[in-house]
Amino acid sequence: PSWVMHCTERTFVAIKPDGVHRGLIGRTIARLEDKGYSLVALKLLKPSRTLAESHYESLRSKPFFGDLVSFITSGPVCAMVWEGKDVIGQVRKLIGNTDPLTCAPGTIRGDFGIDIGRNIIHGSDSISSAEREIQLWFHSEELVDWNPSLHE
Ligand code: PPS
Repeated sequence: PSWVMHCTERTFVAIKPDGVHRGLIGRTIARLEDKGYSLVALKLLKPSRTLAESHYESLRSKPFFGDLVSFITSGPVCAMVWEGKDVIGQVRKLIGNTDPLTCAPGTIRGDFGIDIGRNIIHGSDSISSAEREIQLWFHSEELVDWNPSLHE
């Protein structure tokens, strides 16, 4: 039915080098699967400086921009696209606030981190950022179609 298409979104999620290094890929994926979301793309890569700077381009004027780019390019990142009802906002809730010290227990950052610059995971913050980030990190043929009948 047409209403299902309206509720279904896609979001970009990245487990940052600290999360990959600490072995948090499996547990992070499990949380999103448990919630009911579908993984539609996944790859491990060490992002180039160009990719990292484009990803964070809206933060270019922030004092921490250089650190953020150095950090995200410092090791492997697990880049993913997740799909489901209200997935953009729900993933942000599952992740928790930017500062892990202010996150509720039960959130990914609340359970696994203490440092603002090492906060394990990124999730798109809006429909427009999700579209931009998915295109930046993935080719369209890298995304799978879980339920082709929904798009007919
Ligand atoms: S802001 O300032 O409101 O735009 O920040 P916010 O939207 O909360 O965070 C945007 C991303 O910047 C990262 N961030 C930092 N990194 C390093 N040091 C400091 N001090 C810092 N503050 C914010 C934050 O983790 C966000 O990264 P992503 O990957 O988008 O979660």
